[in-house]
Amino acid sequence: MVRAAEKAARTLVRDFGEVEQLQVSKKGPADFVSSADLAAEKAIRTELAKARPDFGWLMEESGKGGAANARSRWIVDPLDGTTNFLHGVPHWSISIAAETDGAIVAGIVYDPIKNELFWAERGQGAFVNSKRLRVSGRRSLDVALIATGMPYKGRTSGPHYLAELDLVMAEVAGVRRFGSAALDLAYVAAGRYDAFWEYGLSPWDSAAGVLLVTEAGGFVSEVGGGNNPIYGSSILAANGDLGRPLREILRKASGKGPGASTAPKAVSG
Ligand code: 2AM
Ligand code: CA
Repeated sequence: MVRAAEKAARTLVRDFGEVEQLQVSKKGPADFVSSADLAAEKAIRTELAKARPDFGWLMEESGKGGAANARSRWIVDPLDGTTNFLHGVPHWSISIAAETDGAIVAGIVYDPIKNELFWAERGQGAFVNSKRLRVSGRRSLDVALIATGMPYKGRTSGPHYLAELDLVMAEVAGVRRFGSAALDLAYVAAGRYDAFWEYGLSPWDSAAGVLLVTEAGGFVSEVGGGNNPIYGSSILAANGDLGRPLREILRKASGKGPGASTAPKAVSG
């Protein structure tokens, strides 16, 4: 996985350097970036297929494939934070997870610009480069830094997202929206963020990051508490102390919590 990510990173870093030049052109770098993305995925696929020909895969660009009826598969996002990449913002990553019998057993999130390789193996802990990771020890929301992802063009988010944001902002030290869900999760694992929530992610955005957080001693669930954050429609990751109070705030925003002043009908989804 590391070898595949490093290979893809070499071409992505080179292409990221080109993006700056293209910003000034009328057409912009969009087409260029989508082919960079495809080339990175192809490099990863080739490397992983060479190492484990018996694995299947689920990749952002090429979908499902690989060995049929495989017990194990790779879940790959070759470029998470595409919008940042496209704008020359140096905050994006490569995410690769290995899933066996439906459980994530290993994962990496690689930020080649900052030279940070986040990696975890089930039962073995989580690391950034050679340093062991541990979620933060902050126990109170008023000192917490919370990451989120917000709706973007063509996407609605959770039915109550703005209400949620409003309530969370009022209770915490700060909210951040950095645009790479895989890195958001890696930063929760590293104790930089105390929690993270987002709606509408795909498995390739979150599979590796979820293992990073759990191996670093944190908790991950769906926003409503369900335990399928990778394949479900929402994700909430936090250290052991802040998951529950944060979920309570998010619940209030949907009008279902004890603190809700009005009680609108629950919106499906
Ligand atoms: P991506 O860069 O691989 O597309 C940020 O909220 C998360 O949503 C990122 O992990 C990002 O992954 C995903 N996302 C998908 N489409 C997006 C878009 N058009 N704009 C911003 N983020 C998007
Ligand atoms: Ca992504």
